[in-house]
Amino acid sequence: MVQNDGNTPGSGNAQRMFGPQAGVYATSQVHVRDDSLDVLQKLAARSDDKAYGWAADLGTGAGFTAFAMAQLSDRVVATDPTRPMLEQTRRLGRERGLENLGLSRNVAESLPFAGESLDLVTSRVAGHHFSDLNRAFDEVRRVLKTGGVFVMADSVCPEDDEVDRWMNDIELRRDFSHVRNRKISEINVMLADRSLKVERQEGARIFLRFNEWVARTVVPEPEATALRNDFLQAPAGAREAFQIQPSNGDIDFSWPCLVFRAVKV
Ligand SMILES: C[S@@+](CC[C@H](N)C(=O)[O-])C[C@H]1O[C@@H](n2cnc3c(N)ncnc32)[C@H](O)[C@@H]1O
Repeated sequence: MVQNDGNTPGSGNAQRMFGPQAGVYATSQVHVRDDSLDVLQKLAARSDDKAYGWAADLGTGAGFTAFAMAQLSDRVVATDPTRPMLEQTRRLGRERGLENLGLSRNVAESLPFAGESLDLVTSRVAGHHFSDLNRAFDEVRRVLKTGGVFVMADSVCPEDDEVDRWMNDIELRRDFSHVRNRKISEINVMLADRSLKVERQEGARIFLRFNEWVARTVVPEPEATALRNDFLQAPAGAREAFQIQPSNGDIDFSWPCLVFRAVKV
């Protein structure tokens, strides 16, 4: 059931981008399961093997992270502003027979939960789309109980400013709803400012193939060609950081991903 199906300010670009493509995201192998979800699931696991009570997943897309968290929690609410994404989550959740999954249509910057009400908040490969990540982190802090756990996985850019600019420029041209891949150092400051204490951090890679990656966001051909050329002529720092490799008419590359487990203290 979709609750809180109301105002989702600040997510217009995201809804225009993700709405028509929701079915594609529901079958995208990168999203169904990858390194980042494996690491997120490992960092979310409790050492006492008990279940979390209430959990929420932010920017749930077609729901794959929420489905994984449904194994670790009594109840998980999958949240996203894009209605067709939540419809995919509902369909896939039913197919998986999940009975402890709820849906809510909202942005991460305005969560429909009472203060101190959740035991676990997760988010995977979505934070770089949030229009205001600081505000989303404020909300995570507000809704978590003291001692509650926040586990997030998202693409990050290297600390080098030139490589940062290259990556964020490429991402924005491929997806107009892209906001920003942040540096790990920026994210750590944002967490520390909110007393979200990092207990563990791990790196992961998001492995991508260029042709499928631009098709997923329906990049028009002239821009796809320009992007392909930029990958093939990438500066050395970007080539190395993103493991760019031409391969049989396509280009293999990977984005670095940060996965952290933080606790509200
Ligand atoms: C790549 S998908 C997420 C994939 C998903 N988390 C998974 O694990 O498969 C990005 C999602 O972020 C959502 N999104 C965009 N802006 C948002 C915001 N401000 N708050 C919450 N979600 C947002 C989009 O609607 C989209 O469904």
